[in-house]
Amino acid sequence: MSTIILGIESSCDDTSAAVIRDGVLLSNVIASQKVHEAYGGVVPELASRAHQQNIVPVVSEAIRQAGINKEDISAIAFTRGPGLPGSLHVGTSFAKGLALALNVPLVDVNHLHGHVLSHFIKEDDSTEVPEFPYLCLLISGGNSQIVKVNAPNDMEILGQTIDDAAGEAFDKCAKSMGLPYPGGPVIDRLAAEGDATRFKFSKPHIPGLNYSFSGLKTSFLYTLRDELKLNPNFIEENKADLAASLQKTIIDILMDKFSKAIKQSGIKTIAIGGGVSANSGVRNAVQDYADRHHIKAFIPKRLFTTDNAAMIAVAGYFKYLDGKYCDVTLPPFARVTI
Ligand code: KG4
Repeated sequence: MSTIILGIESSCDDTSAAVIRDGVLLSNVIASQKVHEAYGGVVPELASRAHQQNIVPVVSEAIRQAGINKEDISAIAFTRGPGLPGSLHVGTSFAKGLALALNVPLVDVNHLHGHVLSHFIKEDDSTEVPEFPYLCLLISGGNSQIVKVNAPNDMEILGQTIDDAAGEAFDKCAKSMGLPYPGGPVIDRLAAEGDATRFKFSKPHIPGLNYSFSGLKTSFLYTLRDELKLNPNFIEENKADLAASLQKTIIDILMDKFSKAIKQSGIKTIAIGGGVSANSGVRNAVQDYADRHHIKAFIPKRLFTTDNAAMIAVAGYFKYLDGKYCDVTLPPFARVTI
């Protein structure tokens, strides 16, 4: 008999549900919330309300597209955290209710594990997946970590940010340029036409494998402030060069520690995951590093870089196989580490 997992993701501003059968993806439905655009960031209360509106239609559609009946589901996997508390409560409560109604096990998933294991989303049986152990650079709006993945349910953090995440550096600098939220994809597009050597921003000097992005943010803001005094049109006239130089600095910071971790660990398989791994420059830099060092790099499809339930279903599938179910009394957690 096949194992069918329904995954539910509601940690931030995307309501998503996905179905996988024996590890192979059957459907992945994502309802993105446009309501936050006007505010320059995600408004938690609005996110919770939108999840309430979306969750039933999104789950129904995922089941319909998968071509299964809800009675075929073997277990329900849901994002327990980290994320926005109100948003997490919607997905968690819905998953519990459905698991009770269908009388199937419930599996809680750490959202970050989902990103790290997103390389195991098989669109068909021919999808190539990483070998263990592999090193994953997990870069999103809330986290920047280097994770050693020994097995699906065995991960270690080798390094992480001590302040802002890489995505925050993109978003906050973009905001200071007057660009819309989220700034990362906008910077990515602008950077393609800019000169990345034009501006120099500060890079952190912290020991070990940890990251820091707050100094870069401050030096970016100071550059804008000083230049705007001389030329009020500075940002408009230099948008592309600013974006390209910012993106290059973020990539240099990321690659500096990631390459150190690869060398120190001797691991020959690397991967990236999380929203910032959609960035063209980051993807090229990681692939280029792997080619030069004759190691294997896993670069996720852009669809699987941002929040999606396919990765939650996959991470849940691995826990299900290990018999790691959770209790219906388990609360969501805003902060969960690996
Ligand atoms: O993983 P994610 O969807 O949400 C979190 O769980 O944090 O990541 C969102 C982050 C945002 O900071 C967004 O600006 C960034 O990913 N992002 C990008 C790109 N696409 C999304 N950053 C740089 N370049 C991109 N193309």
